[in-house]
Amino acid sequence: MTTDPGTALVTGASRGLGAAIARALARDGLSVALNFFHDRTAAEKLRLEIAESGGRAELFQADVTHEAEARDLHDRVTATFGGVDVLVLNATGPQPLIPVEELHWRDMLDQLEFFVKSPLLLAQAVIPGMKQRGHGRIVHIGSEVVELGAPYSSAYVAAKGAQLGLTRSWARELGEHGITVNLVAPGWIPTERHDGVPDEEKAAYAAGVPAGHLGVAGDVAEAVAFLASRRAAFVTGQKLAVNGGNTLT
Ligand SMILES: NC(=O)c1ccc[n+]([C@@H]2O[C@H](COP(=O)([O-])OP(=O)(O)OC[C@H]3O[C@@H](n4cnc5c(N)ncnc54)[C@H](OP(=O)(O)O)[C@@H]3O)[C@@H](O)[C@H]2O)c1
Repeated sequence: MTTDPGTALVTGASRGLGAAIARALARDGLSVALNFFHDRTAAEKLRLEIAESGGRAELFQADVTHEAEARDLHDRVTATFGGVDVLVLNATGPQPLIPVEELHWRDMLDQLEFFVKSPLLLAQAVIPGMKQRGHGRIVHIGSEVVELGAPYSSAYVAAKGAQLGLTRSWARELGEHGITVNLVAPGWIPTERHDGVPDEEKAAYAAGVPAGHLGVAGDVAEAVAFLASRRAAFVTGQKLAVNGGNTLT
């Protein structure tokens, strides 16, 4: 068995949880393909940071919800690094709050594009190589909202629920090929896009969390790093909540 940890493709790695996940995987010795869409500057900053800490990362711009771009992304990563051993499905678009009476089918599709279509396109691209090598890791980034429900977010919640369904079915289909498929379900982890949220709102959420505080992006990254590693070889089809116990039943 090779000891090379291989290559990880992290979608939406220019900021937020994706950037933290990329940092952790690079720290663990993986070559990291940093996917971004709009923000090349942020992605380049992260690439330099990883390189300065002795890691290896390259930038790959692509709209991961677009069929041809997703396939081309995989081809470019493979041409650069030789294949994808770890696929982290993290990218998200806007998550607008919309009351159910005002929800259009297009709003549903907008979320399904990120959490069903894009995972499908990228999984279909990486699976042949993973099967050939007899090893692979697919890690979805889901959300605790599937358990909690979240008002005015039913399109997002439905799509995140669907992602959990993909996780379980793919785990059964791919297990015999040495490919594990798991889902990390974060609680609310304020990232750059939450910069304008008042502290009182954060405190109110934290008050209901058994751990008594909000998590940080690194908490999610460590869970992904474990599931991406050889240490997690016998873990598949699972949802790992990283939310300080917020979905304890
Ligand atoms: N943060 C939380 O509280 C939380 C809680 C539960 C679950 N999650 C889940 O965790 C994941 C990351 O969330 P986040 O808060 O870190 O999000 P974020 O800060 O908004 O980052 C989103 C990332 O996705 C990229 N992106 C957007 N559209 C894209 C496209 N079409 N193709 C490729 N990349 C695209 C963005 O890149 P550019 O900026 O370069 O366009 C950015 O890097 C999501 O799946 C989210 O649902 C987050």
